[in-house]
Amino acid sequence: MKLTRERITKVLKSVNYPGFNRDIISFGLVKDIMVEDSKVTLSVVLPKPDKKLQSTLEEEIRKAIFAIPGVEDISMKIGSRPQKQIATNDNEKSKLPSIKYYIAVASGKGGVGKSTIATNLSLAISKKRNKVGLMDADIWGPSAPLMMGISEKPRATANDKIIPIEKFGLKVMSIGFLVNEEDAVIWRGPMVHGAIKQFVEDVEWSGTDYLVIDLPPGTGDAQLSLAQTAPISGGVIVTTPQDVALVDVRRGILMFNKLNIPILGIVENMSYLDMPDVDKNIDIFGRGGGRRMAERFEVPFLGEIPLDPRIRIGGDNGTPIVESDPQSTAAKAFSKIADRILESIEN
Ligand SMILES: Nc1ncnc2c1ncn2[C@@H]1O[C@H](COP(=O)(O)OP(=O)(O)OP(=O)(O)O)[C@@H](O)[C@H]1O
Ligand SMILES: [Mg+2]
Repeated sequence: MKLTRERITKVLKSVNYPGFNRDIISFGLVKDIMVEDSKVTLSVVLPKPDKKLQSTLEEEIRKAIFAIPGVEDISMKIGSRPQKQIATNDNEKSKLPSIKYYIAVASGKGGVGKSTIATNLSLAISKKRNKVGLMDADIWGPSAPLMMGISEKPRATANDKIIPIEKFGLKVMSIGFLVNEEDAVIWRGPMVHGAIKQFVEDVEWSGTDYLVIDLPPGTGDAQLSLAQTAPISGGVIVTTPQDVALVDVRRGILMFNKLNIPILGIVENMSYLDMPDVDKNIDIFGRGGGRRMAERFEVPFLGEIPLDPRIRIGGDNGTPIVESDPQSTAAKAFSKIADRILESIEN
């Protein structure tokens, strides 16, 4: 078989980014593959500086390419583009919006209330600061249209930037505004990367200082893509108190560590049943697991959000509880969490 660029690309699709189930090609880490007779030239750009990861990857790439019959020489440039440099490189700078703080909300497991937390948290922050945005980056299951009650489609600026929709004083962008859910489910590696990149670069975020990002569940492509594209100020990990969810907290922490994203802390959702008319709260899933986990991993514990039907109802009818019932226990808890996060990122 002839030695071609395509052949190299195909082989590199079998090399996974260490710690992830996704290959380095679909993550967009490999650039400028060239083949000249029996010599292969390529460059590999890592999302963060990591000597150990770099040498592991370099070895794996060499092994994979040298296994192709006919390859005699490899010239590889491998290194990282440090986070700070993302914004100092002139070319990239013009593409990146002037957002000051990117706050990513993640969880190892689905359905623990990430979107609920991201949405209410962005609203809680907007009660304290101007210029707040919410980016729903869950390209497989966007929630912002429903939770924020937005049914209109965004328009574009003259230079083709998407204008976020304004709601409750926030700028909101969601893949759900652009495609319907059935189409979104089929998104795979390279498209995921493209979509996330576009969300950061091609949305008119100017006038946004604080951007809360609702991530898809888990620790994979979208998270890595985001870390590669934007200088994330910090990550929030959402969990429920049960043990199963807590195992996933560990994964969330490891992921943020691997991506060099500072951990702002853990939020325990559905901590207890808020019973406004009874003087005793009911502890359903074993309140306190999130706090214990935070202590064990030495990361901040940001707060507990009660299980409250008004939270779900607010999410389903498009008026989150922070907006509909600011005096509720839950809304007050969001306000405190917002304070802790602001204190941590602004200092
Ligand atoms: N504290 C709470 N009290 C009551 N209902 C809640 C609470 N937190 C979340 N819910 C409800 O639980 C469901 C799942 O929450 P949500 O969509 O926020 O989870 P998620 O982690 O974003 O899920 P996914 O992993 O699918 O993105 C929603 O119907 C939401 O309204
Ligand atoms: Mg969600």
